[in-house]
Amino acid sequence: MRAIWKGACALALAALAAGIAIAAKPTTSAWDAQRRLDRGVNIIGYDPLWKDFKNGRFKTYHFYKIRQAGFSSVRIVLQSFEHMDAHNRLPQKWLDTLDWAVSGATHAGLNVIVDEHDFNKCSDDAAACHDKLVAFWKQVGHHLRKQGNNVLFELLNEPHGVLDAEHWNGLLAELIPIVRRDNPTRNLVIGPTQWNSLHQLDTLKLPEQDRHIVVTFHYYDPMRFTHQGASWVPEYAHVSGVTCCTKDERAKIDSDFDEVAAWSKAHDRPILLGEFGAREGGDMASRVAWTSAVARSAERHGFAWAYWQFDGDFILYDMKKQDWVHPILKALIPNRD
Ligand code: BGC
Repeated sequence: MRAIWKGACALALAALAAGIAIAAKPTTSAWDAQRRLDRGVNIIGYDPLWKDFKNGRFKTYHFYKIRQAGFSSVRIVLQSFEHMDAHNRLPQKWLDTLDWAVSGATHAGLNVIVDEHDFNKCSDDAAACHDKLVAFWKQVGHHLRKQGNNVLFELLNEPHGVLDAEHWNGLLAELIPIVRRDNPTRNLVIGPTQWNSLHQLDTLKLPEQDRHIVVTFHYYDPMRFTHQGASWVPEYAHVSGVTCCTKDERAKIDSDFDEVAAWSKAHDRPILLGEFGAREGGDMASRVAWTSAVARSAERHGFAWAYWQFDGDFILYDMKKQDWVHPILKALIPNRD
């Protein structure tokens, strides 16, 4: 009788252990998460919907359009600081809009990067940035903790200015453990200083034992071409007529990406090219040539990518016509039917 009882207990314990194992959320490696990001696009960073939802340009059906066009992911660009109260609390209304975006994208079958994008504010005032970014990730990390592994968190877009390598690494050392409290195995997206420059990858310090990190960089070279006429880059604000791409210019893209791939291999970290694009200042043939050269080179190098951006400027989708900018779409996703 005793033996039977013991056996039953052992069985019950084994079943319980198995149950716990089943109940525990399966994790996704950073490499798998990065592969699933595949081809993506940046969305809603500058959409009025954050201030007043009904005035939004982006509607729920755009998530489906993006998926149907062949994209696998969206990078949701969040400028949250201006919505915080005096105690750095995010209003419920803002969180509701975030929930709409995350669930709209995931229901459409898209993977999601939740990107905190107050990069200019952060790079001007380290103290204010610190408090707001910590407050953001405490609230949003907790709020989104139950999301699936198809949702990744990007801690901050393009640190630069006062956020040099030393200060950025210091901030990361504080932010990562905060996010990890509620999201122990969620894949994070983190890039180096100087606007996520590939030339700064070697300065990036990540916790060696934390393997749930996808490393990101942004690519807009040659800036004279991609940012010609851009009011926010004084050096190129009055430049026009720059074309692309010669054989040498294409080779430069490949050799820059070789550098990133070598870093990725040496550090065993998967790569996301989180932004690239050529603004409307350039002629369409050159923009298509550059966009397709960058996207194909990224793919040959095994990087996931996210185009900058859906609408606003550098547009991929024309909100007035409710139609794709077909040459740019084809440059990004050539193998559509
Ligand atoms: C910024 C945009 C800018 C783009 C290209 C993004 O990170 O948020 O304002 O247009 O980079 O310069």
